[in-house]
Amino acid sequence: MTSHLKKVELHCHLEGAAPPALTLAQARKYNVDTSAFMRDGIYLWKDFTEFLVCYDKVSEVYRTEEDYALLTETYLEELAEIGSIYSELIVSPDHGDRIGLGADAYMAGVSAGIRAAQEKSGIVARLLVTGERHFGPERVIKAAEYAARSDNPLITGFNMAGEERMGRVADYARAFDIAREAGLGLTIHAGEVCGAFSVADAVELVRPSRIGHGVRAIEDADLVRRLADLGTVLEVCPGSNVALNVFPDFAAHPLRQLRDAGVRVTINSDDPPFFHTSLKREYELASTSFGFSDDEINAMTRTAVEAAFVDEVTRASLLARL
Ligand code: ADE
Ligand code: ZN
Repeated sequence: MTSHLKKVELHCHLEGAAPPALTLAQARKYNVDTSAFMRDGIYLWKDFTEFLVCYDKVSEVYRTEEDYALLTETYLEELAEIGSIYSELIVSPDHGDRIGLGADAYMAGVSAGIRAAQEKSGIVARLLVTGERHFGPERVIKAAEYAARSDNPLITGFNMAGEERMGRVADYARAFDIAREAGLGLTIHAGEVCGAFSVADAVELVRPSRIGHGVRAIEDADLVRRLADLGTVLEVCPGSNVALNVFPDFAAHPLRQLRDAGVRVTINSDDPPFFHTSLKREYELASTSFGFSDDEINAMTRTAVEAAFVDEVTRASLLARL
């Protein structure tokens, strides 16, 4: 049982954490027909492409600052209830723009949700602004510029999510240069849908301190050694990887091999209800499916705090809470 362990999450997409019951209530509020993307409380998709479409459909029922505050507070409270002390949420100003809310109001709602959750339960959270790769390099650069000029102290990192098969990392490197120059922490989805080459591209061209997933680095032993040498932290999401068929089952998942090779790994849920998972379940899987001891799991949680995009005072206080 891992329910007594303190938990930290570095990789969860805000709209991807939307509880189906809340999405249904939102849809009713706005008279949106949900039959194309959810049924019986389950989000409907069959493969990665359909997942991204479903994700966007779900996002469309969150329309106001208050909707985003509620969504954020709801997820953070769920995390706090299972013993989580810190969360980094991946947020997409493009999604705010696409529903006509605008990036500033979107961020204001999310930030209000963070403050409300912290007041209630003490959970600390920060935001990773993400560009969506399938919206194209221009939009990703715009997202980086938005993050770079924002004076919101909760925005501490920049990410790129979305369709990994669209373009090469080089097409998006400029966005990461902008974010790096602004002093933001860098992480990038790579080695999930695409193979080791995508992780190698990310390491060379973005030089991130963390990589979202990165698990298909396992296809290249030299690259695994390089990740270990560089100390690059992988935000591993086993339940997501199995749900999306990146690996057929947990026995085939390389979390333990990567850890044993000296790669710094952390445990995350990605888009929990879409993948029928939760951070609680991911920690449980680390124990039951991967055979890690409590001490080994705690070491991953400590790695997550060490790699978190926070100021050093906050990091010290989080480490003291572990
Ligand atoms: N956006 C939300 N979840 C994602 C994932 N697992 N990979 C890429 N983009 C995403
Ligand atoms: Zn992700």
